[in-house]
Amino acid sequence: MVKKITVVGAGNVGATTAQRVAEKELARTVVLVDVVEGIPQGKGLDQWQSAPIEGYDSRIIGTNGYDETAGSEIVIITAGIARKPGMSRDDLLNTNAGIVKSVSEQIAKTSPDAIVIVVSNPLDVMCYVAKEATHFPRERVIGMAGVLDTARYRAFLAEALDVSVRDIQAMVLGGHGDTMVPLISYTSVSGIPVTQLMDAATLNAIVDRTRNGGAEIVKYLKTGSAYYAPSAGAVQMAEAIVNDQKRILPCAAWLQGEYGLRDLFLGVPCKLGRKGLEQVIEVQLTADERTALEKSAQAVREPMSAVKL
Ligand code: NAI
Ligand code: 2OP
Repeated sequence: MVKKITVVGAGNVGATTAQRVAEKELARTVVLVDVVEGIPQGKGLDQWQSAPIEGYDSRIIGTNGYDETAGSEIVIITAGIARKPGMSRDDLLNTNAGIVKSVSEQIAKTSPDAIVIVVSNPLDVMCYVAKEATHFPRERVIGMAGVLDTARYRAFLAEALDVSVRDIQAMVLGGHGDTMVPLISYTSVSGIPVTQLMDAATLNAIVDRTRNGGAEIVKYLKTGSAYYAPSAGAVQMAEAIVNDQKRILPCAAWLQGEYGLRDLFLGVPCKLGRKGLEQVIEVQLTADERTALEKSAQAVREPMSAVKL
């Protein structure tokens, strides 16, 4: 347990993240921040009142300011807006960049030693905004997307194979968009290569469904996007850091030559421990996977160069 974890954005992802952090008792105090008056206070109070039933001692506090967040060891940024009719992707990019920038500046002032986990979209570019605005080293700015994309891939595989999700080992790398790269060569079921258990057509259909996993949920919800699995992903990363677990998880990391790529955030296998990003692991890729990762990097570089900092 650490002393304080802050979650910025008390919307669907943020509020669910705060509840999960508290239920796992990852922090003594969980601070939920939002710009809308009353929402973080109301949700925080409601969540705190579930503590006697669920049996956790983490205290959840809701606020519209940053004083209460001071000295947070971990800050999870989920603040942002979703795309609305009439808005272009660039409108969303720059609106969320403005939000993530102002949030990051506040965090840098009040929690200068924090490890930041970015969730806001477009994920890989928002990580870049957070890194630029905080001036934190790459060890302390990490993005959550690969854990979610991998969870979707594992869930679809487990369902198709009628096996436990626990026995599916897999990794989805690349940017958080339709160019993401599920690594078939590293997908196994209790060590058995998935290609021995499933035909290529079924596997390819699952890869496609994974790439469109976010859109599939938006289509059902209509007014919002996924939040149960995304919050679980962010909390798995926070837990790895708090408990110094040295987990190898696919996260968006600031690449400095790994995979032949430099100066961008992209989903790669990362070792997470108490120092944050402790190592980017370079795995061998097939020629097709390498080409797909480079294409994904290009898809991140385009909005990155358009973002107003
Ligand atoms: P939401 O609309 O339910 O919540 C967003 C919250 O941010 C709202 O409560 C809003 O008032 C707040 N907010 C806006 N500006 C703020 C500011 N300056 N400071 C503090 N709070 C502010 O949206 P939801 O579903 O919670 O999603 C949040 C973000 O996470 C979106 O950008 C979404 O696209 C992204 N997301 C990313 C995923 C990933 O895998 N990286 C997965 C799911 C969502
Ligand atoms: C998702 O993949 C919207 O990025 C979000 O569900």
